Amino acid sequence: MEVIKEAADLIGSSNFVVALTGAGISAESGIPTFRGKNGLWRKYRAEDLATPEAFARNPRLVWEWYVWRMKIIGSAEPNPGHIALAKMEEMGILKALITQNVDGLHRRAGSRNVLELHGNIWRVRCVDCGFSKMISKPPEQIPPKCEECGGLLRPDVVWFGEPLPKDVLNRAIYYASRADLMLVIGTSAVVQPAASLPLLTKRNGGILIEINISDTPLTPICDLTIREKAGVILPKILEEIG
Ligand code: APR
Repeated sequence: MEVIKEAADLIGSSNFVVALTGAGISAESGIPTFRGKNGLWRKYRAEDLATPEAFARNPRLVWEWYVWRMKIIGSAEPNPGHIALAKMEEMGILKALITQNVDGLHRRAGSRNVLELHGNIWRVRCVDCGFSKMISKPPEQIPPKCEECGGLLRPDVVWFGEPLPKDVLNRAIYYASRADLMLVIGTSAVVQPAASLPLLTKRNGGILIEINISDTPLTPICDLTIREKAGVILPKILEEIG
């Protein structure tokens, strides 16, 4: 395919490549995306569950959704898309991987410089005292209680209306601004501020390559668009780079 060669040539002639990923990169690992036809859980949209208000109203319901997702994520494996990105970093091509995903699959695939903009599903935090810890399986009793103060534990992820972790966002802004090429992979590019990071790259003269099975609001400003599954195309691009 011509686009594979084109992408490989653009990557090959760049000095500072950064990637931004979304739920689409983990779709081929069997993890449902948030939007689109498989994006619903029961009758709820992500926007109805992933908010502090939803948690305050019904922590049990929100936790049920997270336990459902934790079970899927816990039995999922990184796919060839995750692995190709980890290899690009190992080869010195990819300088940073900015992800909106909370599933931890990039790290499990071997990526090291991973910036998790929206947190990690395997970390919980007390809404009262701030105590936080990593967990390796879904809590047995929901909603789980804080072992320090007895308060409610919540997933330590970023919900709608909440700020992103400052240090992570600042580093993402640094990498996006410095990148002379950004791979934008499997994100619907509608959730801010993540969706604006490619604009920083573009504004500084960088190239945008989008890999997505459908159009997004970013498509019109991308220099190259590849309408293919990430797990199919990324290994081919890697092979072409050599
Ligand atoms: N390969 C490439 N792209 C894919 C694939 C695939 N195999 N499967 C799906 N996609 C694309 C879809 O076309 C869509 O554009 O992935 C994108 C998934 O979009 P969303 O479900 O909106 O996921 P994301 O962009 O990561 O959502 C952002 O919203 O609720 C939140 O916090 C949550 O981080 C998440 C944020």
